[in-house]
Amino acid sequence: MKKYIFGNWKLNKNQAEVSTFFATFNKQQVKSDYLVYGVAPTFLGLQLANYLKQGQTNIVAQDVCEYEHGSFTGQISVRQLNDLNINYVIVGHSEARKYLGCTDQIVNKKVAICLANDITPIICIGESLKEYKAKQTKKVLAKQLKTIFKGISVSEAKKCIIAYEPLWAIGSGKTPSLSEINGLCTYLKQVLKTLYKQTMNTPILYGGSVNNDNAIEIATQLSVDGLLIGGASLDANKFATILQHLNLWLTRK
Ligand code: PGA
Repeated sequence: MKKYIFGNWKLNKNQAEVSTFFATFNKQQVKSDYLVYGVAPTFLGLQLANYLKQGQTNIVAQDVCEYEHGSFTGQISVRQLNDLNINYVIVGHSEARKYLGCTDQIVNKKVAICLANDITPIICIGESLKEYKAKQTKKVLAKQLKTIFKGISVSEAKKCIIAYEPLWAIGSGKTPSLSEINGLCTYLKQVLKTLYKQTMNTPILYGGSVNNDNAIEIATQLSVDGLLIGGASLDANKFATILQHLNLWLTRK
């Protein structure tokens, strides 16, 4: 299976900085049969990034409204993402949950509307530090998946991507151990298998304090199908290096 590597730029980069990123990144583009990759600028950066991107780079949106039309000030619809040929969108990121009131029920609606409009949702789930310390991680993740995939058919669920991002690992410089990450990605595959009564090939990514030192060892864990990278994706050289090294590893395997 391919590895999926997405960079989440969050509230970073103005137009000039988007241009600078691609000026460097395009020169180091990785051509790979083993990787699917992309970056997620702010909504206002989508059009420029789409225009500047080259090769295999996908442009990803950071969120989408769960409704297609209507009185939802400040939101962006799937139709508008379709207009720009955006094929991936991050939904349920912990920052959207914390600051924008996103819940698992809302994520469920976002997933449904994305799938109905040929957009792949990159669904973020994860436990808090308190839950981690209380050894509640598996319980929390299983509950999240159950709600998020309610009413989503087998074939649709197979088209989704899941990003396991422990809340305490995001932007903190801390990560779970490699065996914890691998074990939880294995567990998430089992949860999906139980929910759908069949083996699912839904990719499970890891996110949270991935950097140039730990990216390859995390991404090459058996059950880890890729990475969602925040801070380390902002620098074109750093992000390209991760892609190059991972491609090399996958090519040699
Ligand atoms: P980080 O962010 O890599 O900066 O920890 C990851 C994320 O929020 O997706």
